[in-house]
Amino acid sequence: MKVTVVGAGAVGATCADNIARKQICDELVIVDIKEGVAEGKAMDLMQTAQIEGFDTRIIGSTNDYSKTAGSTVAVITSGIPRKPGMTREELIGINAGIVKSVTENILKHSPECIIIIISNPMDTMTYLALKSSGLPKNRIIGMGGILDSARFRYFLSQAIPCSPNDLQANVIGGHGDTTMIPLTRLATYCGIPVSEFLDEEKAKKVAASTMVGGATLTALLGTSAWYAPGAAGASLVEAIVRDEKKMVPCCVYLDGEYGQKDICIGVPVIIGKNGWEKIIDFKLNDQEKEMFNKSADAVRKMNETLSTLS
Ligand code: 2OP
Repeated sequence: MKVTVVGAGAVGATCADNIARKQICDELVIVDIKEGVAEGKAMDLMQTAQIEGFDTRIIGSTNDYSKTAGSTVAVITSGIPRKPGMTREELIGINAGIVKSVTENILKHSPECIIIIISNPMDTMTYLALKSSGLPKNRIIGMGGILDSARFRYFLSQAIPCSPNDLQANVIGGHGDTTMIPLTRLATYCGIPVSEFLDEEKAKKVAASTMVGGATLTALLGTSAWYAPGAAGASLVEAIVRDEKKMVPCCVYLDGEYGQKDICIGVPVIIGKNGWEKIIDFKLNDQEKEMFNKSADAVRKMNETLSTLS
């Protein structure tokens, strides 16, 4: 079974590293447009096989998609990452064309493939990939909520304090500094509402830190983060390949769920071998509903700019 990662930058290479170690595929293909980079990173990763004890066969390919033929899942990380002070949305002008052509190239060789989008602005790139490919909606999944929820759990674990592994906490809505919605009301520490451990002010601070978690790292690193985005992407590949029927927040196409139509945005879904298999359309309270609608309006506005791009 074969998985492809397009984009051998920090996120793509980290995603590939995690996928290889999880041993969820026989063959892992890394594609990049820059001469030699994919081949070099594939070889470097293969040289960890004996150290890490995995048998995944990793190959690199400079822009030759024939090697990706027959992929079950493809992860698109290609495009430019943001710089300090930039929003994800500002990347649309460059990344939209890249994501569209990468999606076409993948499907030319793997027409049955499930596609995971990580490139930013992720919600709009997911919508673009779906609309431009015409794929069934369950086979295009944007990865943002898994990452944002991991950051939510990190900030909660720092505030309580506790192990992040004892927390259940999810983020829905857009994958943007002002559009994501940490669901504090539903967050629990070993099944106990986090409100038992954090006062309202602290909980609000945690939610605010979560929303700008990516920007905070970009300011520190001078570029977008890669460890958590790469690991989150690999966990999504694993849930598909192992048919885990896992519930996670992902960016998927809504056709009436949450009162929204014709948009890709983060909601809880069941992930399995068919991609996203079910949207969990649960009851938001009035405040969450208002935030969700505002988030959707912002994502929709980004989607509308797609038509202005050449
Ligand atoms: C992040 O939030 C890259 O969008 C990704 O770090």
